[in-house]
Amino acid sequence: MKRIGMLTSGGDCQALNAAMRGVAKCLFNSGEDVEIYGFLEGYKGLIYGNFRMLTGYDFSGVLTKGGTILGSSRTPFKLIREPDENGLDKVEAMKQNYYKLRLDCLVILGGNGTHKTANLLRSEGLNVVTLPKTIDNDLWGTDMTFGFQSAVNIATDAIDCIHTTAASHGRVFIVEVMGHKVGYLTLNAGMAGGADIILIPEIPYDIDKVIEKIEERDRNGSKFTILAVAEGAISKEDAKLSKKEYKEKMKNYTFPSVSYEIAQRIQEKTGHDVRVTVPGHTQRGGSPCPYDRVFASRLGSEAGRMILKGEYGFMVGYKNREIVKVPLEEVAGKLKMVAPDASIVKEAKLLGISFGD
Ligand code: F6P
Repeated sequence: MKRIGMLTSGGDCQALNAAMRGVAKCLFNSGEDVEIYGFLEGYKGLIYGNFRMLTGYDFSGVLTKGGTILGSSRTPFKLIREPDENGLDKVEAMKQNYYKLRLDCLVILGGNGTHKTANLLRSEGLNVVTLPKTIDNDLWGTDMTFGFQSAVNIATDAIDCIHTTAASHGRVFIVEVMGHKVGYLTLNAGMAGGADIILIPEIPYDIDKVIEKIEERDRNGSKFTILAVAEGAISKEDAKLSKKEYKEKMKNYTFPSVSYEIAQRIQEKTGHDVRVTVPGHTQRGGSPCPYDRVFASRLGSEAGRMILKGEYGFMVGYKNREIVKVPLEEVAGKLKMVAPDASIVKEAKLLGISFGD
């Protein structure tokens, strides 16, 4: 008999259900007796013992379903060692629930923050296998996370739609793309959508260079310019500030987000009409794209195989086109970012795309 706990933590994304279905199918098909305990709303469910038993029926019809059948929540790692409002030790509570249910393993689906806690639970002696989810694709130890390709599709669609209206009106348009502190999503959606300027956190921008590119397009007779701007894009001046100075500056920041600041500066300097579109959480929503369905199913089935073999303490990742096991201690606390000299950036520049640098 194998008793497996499962939870999804942090911001949701497409293909979480497909990944869990992959794990469950592999386990149920193995012929072993398996019980799956689905903890509700992320680590909260494990802390407070909120779970429901999952059977084959729960995983039927979910391959194409966005969101997560278990619900999710953010339980910040920096607060995990702090007692809750009733004095409960969260880490001890998670361990107690694990042992009370006599679990063999926890399957944890999540991004960066989730992996820090998963690694902590591993170091506390629990058996853990994780799966890399996030639209940001910023998880260390894997070339790809599920959710990313679906989000690229949605952000690209947004840029495609903006293209036609930008062309009709001869305007400058900014599409602000999610991705937290990394630029994978913006870079890929920007290239796929034919953006003229792509601003990502890893390559701080100079507003004068951005304007230069817009004016170059004006001179060449292009009536519109499209910018794909990462929500975490940062100017060269701000990138020079210390963490403390930047925090201080942001206290008095009046723009809803960086795109609105960039829009105002472009408008002031060029006289162009500038509009901002923020697709926001639509990028995390809806049905997973076929790539993510297949990818998440592959990762999930490998997690199932590892559980059956008792191979614990790993994230199931993807490296050089192979599904691989990555030790959790290597993943936790590290961010994967776009290298400013990555070949994709060089190729984008050859296409004439400006990064404002
Ligand atoms: O990490 C996924 C993500 O969607 C980021 O791209 C974004 O910065 C963040 O989550 C938004 O978080 P929330 O859903 O808590 O607003």
